[in-house]
Amino acid sequence: MGRIVLHKEKGPMEVKVGTESKWMCMCGLSKKKPFCDGSHKKTLDEAENAVYKYDDALNRKKVDQ
Ligand code: FES
Repeated sequence: MGRIVLHKEKGPMEVKVGTESKWMCMCGLSKKKPFCDGSHKKTLDEAENAVYKYDDALNRKKVDQ
């Protein structure tokens, strides 16, 4: 069984833990979830109204809607 989850965010969310900042993955592509690993940079040139599917190597394909 599998599941496809749609993420629209293109960057991390900062969470303050005491005086320290933690950056949480909001794009869904990080290999170190729940933390950001910089993989969101792959999303920066996505078209606004398009949907993409990413494989484990972060290759992407545009999905027909
Ligand atoms: S927000 Fe997902 S890898 Fe940075």
